[in-house]
Amino acid sequence: MTADDQPAEIPIPLDRPTSARAYGWMLGGKDHYEIDRASVLDMHQGFPECVDIARQNREFLYRAVRYLVRDAGVRQFIDLGCGLPTNNNVHQVAQQFAPDVRVVYVDIDPIVLAHGRAFLADDERATVITADMREPETILEHPDTRRLIDFSEPVAVLFLSIGHHLQDTDDLGQGPRHALRHIIDDLAVSGSYLAMSQVVNDDPVEGAKMSERLNGWGIPWQTRTPAEVDAFFDGLEPLEPGLVNLKDWRPDPDQPALDPVPPDLYRYVGTTETNTSVYEYGGVLRKP
Ligand SMILES: C[S@@+](CC[C@H](N)C(=O)[O-])C[C@H]1O[C@@H](n2cnc3c(N)ncnc32)[C@H](O)[C@@H]1O
Repeated sequence: MTADDQPAEIPIPLDRPTSARAYGWMLGGKDHYEIDRASVLDMHQGFPECVDIARQNREFLYRAVRYLVRDAGVRQFIDLGCGLPTNNNVHQVAQQFAPDVRVVYVDIDPIVLAHGRAFLADDERATVITADMREPETILEHPDTRRLIDFSEPVAVLFLSIGHHLQDTDDLGQGPRHALRHIIDDLAVSGSYLAMSQVVNDDPVEGAKMSERLNGWGIPWQTRTPAEVDAFFDGLEPLEPGLVNLKDWRPDPDQPALDPVPPDLYRYVGTTETNTSVYEYGGVLRKP
């Protein structure tokens, strides 16, 4: 990794939770603080599905990346809103199937850079950039992106568990399609892919309550319905089985396990077997 132009001292906010740290805790990660755990526990009071759907999302990431490298032949990835390193990160999954895969990880949270730097120190084919995906030029003009991504070849953009952070009323972004439009519509060649997911609620009233709770913690959020999400991806071709509840996207009971669930969240595991209106919705789409 080379990211010499990034600041050496990285400020880590401790007065509010961040999505990367809170989500990392649900995946069994170690880099979280009291405020992150408090926000996750509070969310489970209203939405006990959270830990299940976070983990279903991360399991989908493995299956999507495996498909893209092993079956679709993709050799370069941009992972927007990549989150903290955990087990089976994108470059590790990809390089199992093709050692020459290149990966640019992007996240707005500086803690991701702090951990990514150490983690990727010896890997010339993977890098992590701190950037806001609502300003895609920053990502595209970054020297590491220029070094690793060749836009004359197909690229896979990962947009996993991200769309709900991009609100329709946001002056910078106006919703999920803004960041994607530039990279997928303008730059990516035919035969490129988008793997996407976001939290949805079939019931818009319940979805609004979830948004209110997360925004109350200072985490930008907009829960949408599946139909609202579908509208963002016109012009791209969903692969079988389409955009679905992620646990139904080519399930593989033999895929590698995630790190263990934190004990404080055990009681919520399995909630999505009976509560089915909140889920991570997504799939893999191809640019024709
Ligand atoms: C729920 S995590 C998902 C992590 C990973 N994509 C996955 O699916 O396992 C959401 C991540 O998006 C990042 N994020 C949120 N808004 C962002 C933005 N505007 N630009 C870049 N990253 C963002 C957060 O910091 C966090 O790490």
